[in-house]
Amino acid sequence: MSTTARAHPNIALLKYWGKQDRPGNYPATPSVSITLDTLSTTTTIEVAPTDRVWLNEIEVEDAKVGAALEDWRQHYDIPSLSIKTRNNFPTAAGLASSASGFAALITAIDAHCELSLSDADKSDLARRASGSAARSIHGGFVTLAEPDWQARQLLPKKAWPLRVVIAITTIGPKAVSSSVGMERSRLTSPYFEAWVSSTASDYGTVVDAVTDRDFDKLAELAEASCLKMHALMLSSKPGLVYWHAATVACMHEIRALREQGLKVFFTVDAGPQVKAVCTEEHAKVVQQALANLPGVEETIQVGLGQGATVIDG
Ligand code: PMV
Repeated sequence: MSTTARAHPNIALLKYWGKQDRPGNYPATPSVSITLDTLSTTTTIEVAPTDRVWLNEIEVEDAKVGAALEDWRQHYDIPSLSIKTRNNFPTAAGLASSASGFAALITAIDAHCELSLSDADKSDLARRASGSAARSIHGGFVTLAEPDWQARQLLPKKAWPLRVVIAITTIGPKAVSSSVGMERSRLTSPYFEAWVSSTASDYGTVVDAVTDRDFDKLAELAEASCLKMHALMLSSKPGLVYWHAATVACMHEIRALREQGLKVFFTVDAGPQVKAVCTEEHAKVVQQALANLPGVEETIQVGLGQGATVIDG
């Protein structure tokens, strides 16, 4: 008997980077994200004599999955498991595969082991494995903030059906993992405290822009949050440079399109890919413009997706 769950990656419009200095993997900053459709992680689990993990049909030693299971077993009765997980997009390329991965895994475990977890519990356990995974429990627009650091839906996807064009500039694993990079920034960047306090005060304004569906305001705030996070990354020692030439070319192109009146803004995570968030009306033109840039290998257009669900079992 097996159980299968599916979850989608999410991208932050207000970014989190850095952890609090206490156990439980609490983010140092609040965040606001959108969950995507089309891209997904599908995970099938069954009880097995020992824990074994397959990623895209290949058996792997995954230290993060091992650590998450060990942590979750301190709170819940979870047997040894065979875990077969598939991503329909490049793993570890700045497309948040850990977010969809841990959201799918805890959703499958909850159903398979009949743990009767609430969404808040699942979000809590997913966060302990990977901060951004807490947000993929929910669909649409999602917040992750104090006091409990459990993700909540801010707006369902139907309320504001934005599109996202992802420009893939390089396929391959990222240079420095987000957990290593975050710790480096906390310990070495002279800007870390300013990042934490200013992001805390940006949170309410981003929530308001989403609630009001104010695209221009959200564009301004989301690009500022992205650039501030990358300024923090660049100021770490040694500096974390996730951008490639094509990443910067996409950012300029997106700003030029906005100057021409298109509703579009960029965001970039811990990798070289660019996500252009836009209205449905302008998505096609945005995708064509990015696809034409030198160094852009591929573009993918997606919409907003739902939260993690059990699809079988
Ligand atoms: O929780 P992680 O390790 O997936 O880190 C996510 C960090 C960023 O994607 C760069 C920002 C964010 O809030 O998702």
